[in-house]
Amino acid sequence: MKNIVLLGFMGTGKSAVGRRLATAFHYQFIDTDQVIEEKTHKRVAEIFSEQGEETFRRLESEAVFDLAERTGCVISTGGGIVLDSKNLDLLQKNGILVLLRCRPEVIFKRVQKRAGQRPLLQKADPLAEIKRLLAEREPFYRRADITLDTSDMNLDDVVQQIKRKVLEIEGRESTA
Ligand code: S3P
Repeated sequence: MKNIVLLGFMGTGKSAVGRRLATAFHYQFIDTDQVIEEKTHKRVAEIFSEQGEETFRRLESEAVFDLAERTGCVISTGGGIVLDSKNLDLLQKNGILVLLRCRPEVIFKRVQKRAGQRPLLQKADPLAEIKRLLAEREPFYRRADITLDTSDMNLDDVVQQIKRKVLEIEGRESTA
């Protein structure tokens, strides 16, 4: 029962897809941003503004470390988790890394709904910032075991496709 670990930029649907996958597999759903907020009693945006991004990244790596030994979970990660390869090493040890992709324009539209909760996009030109961050993160995305572009897909189809691909990988591993 490997974990299913959802990676991807803000607004690619990790939380919504993760909750649905957890139900489908009867796994526990864990969200790393939520783990950090519960531990610090602060919102992610507050941690960024009061303590800075570096502190947030440290808390994020601690959360990954604490989750590393778990199995049978769907773990939805913060978009920047990929920036530290140690995070991915730990998550991949017990987990299948599933990357959700989206076109920048679609991400832009989706994140506008909760713009105040996205500290990294508090910029004069958020779309340009999304494109810049995506380009910066591109090399890290290659670690994923499964990649899916969800730009033109509905939630049901995304969940079904991931489910099928995860079962394929688990089937291959169990007969190997
Ligand atoms: C971040 C993504 C956010 C949150 C923080 C930083 C990022 O999570 O961890 O604002 O660096 O991309 P979501 O991807 O769940 O929005």
